[in-house]
Amino acid sequence: MGLKTIKTIAVLTGGGDAPGMNAALRSVVRSALARGMRTVGVKHAYEGLARGEMTELGARDVGGILQRGGTLLQTARFPEFAQIDAQREAMQHLNAHGVDALVAIGGDGTMRGALALHQLGLPVVGVPASIDNDVHGTDIAIGVDTALNTIVEAIDKLRDTASSHRNAFLVETMGRNCGYLALMAGIVSGAEMTLIPEQEASAREVADAIRSAHERGKTHAIVVVSEGARLRVRVLKKQLDAMELGYGFRVTILGHVQRGGSPSAWDRLIAARFGVAAVEQLANGESGAMVGLRGREIALTPLAEVASRQRQPDLEYYRMARMLAT
Ligand code: F6P
Repeated sequence: MGLKTIKTIAVLTGGGDAPGMNAALRSVVRSALARGMRTVGVKHAYEGLARGEMTELGARDVGGILQRGGTLLQTARFPEFAQIDAQREAMQHLNAHGVDALVAIGGDGTMRGALALHQLGLPVVGVPASIDNDVHGTDIAIGVDTALNTIVEAIDKLRDTASSHRNAFLVETMGRNCGYLALMAGIVSGAEMTLIPEQEASAREVADAIRSAHERGKTHAIVVVSEGARLRVRVLKKQLDAMELGYGFRVTILGHVQRGGSPSAWDRLIAARFGVAAVEQLANGESGAMVGLRGREIALTPLAEVASRQRQPDLEYYRMARMLAT
């Protein structure tokens, strides 16, 4: 049996937005056009797909978005897409718009939706984009680098005010239940301690690290706390406040600023590569896989595997962070 020629590719962005999603969208559209295919943009992720919110996208429609954060197509959380009815509605709309294949850009939830459509017979390839870097099958997802730079910039600023007042800052980062962002931020911003979901740590250990910083004459202390850490940032502050450690404690929750902003050069580059690779894979008859980066190379991982696992940060970095904080 020969390959079915793909004439029209739909593309969507799902889950939490990530800087570089627009760059990936542009790459999908322009590389598909270069192959003589039509492209259709799906608004509001799977929710929009189930409602048939689709418009044709040409090369100019994705002009001027490369450097913009967020997503032109917008996104939505839509857990209802786990239901077969919503998936069937999506398939009907895709058929009605003459769509032969889909590129789904997003995190683990987006990959689960992509897998469901692949299982219903639609050729689908995923592109990982999530600031959490918890998507299995890629060393790094689109958006992680920009978010990390945003965190580091914020911590550098906090350190200025912390030193001026002899304060200690407890800085909460995003990441859901993955500690990658916090761990990397802790290393590159020189934090005294980093709390992540993957590694147990007590308020006593944090206190020891802070006390030692104080005894070594440091005028400030920074503790990075992943939002998924077992010790929640406000509980930690209460416990530290009661310990007389020589600093005043302040909590900064960085929140959604981490998701916004112009994508870094790195995020634009992997977005360009992933978008081109996704279209190429579909053109070659591939389906049910996600493109990703392993080392310097593009690698494919079955969506079934991506959907059933979560990427874990390497705990060697945790040990490194502790060693360098002395
Ligand atoms: O997955 C990206 C992310 O920003 C997580 O880090 C965070 O836990 C979550 O999304 C927040 O989601 P929402 O914006 O829907 O509250």
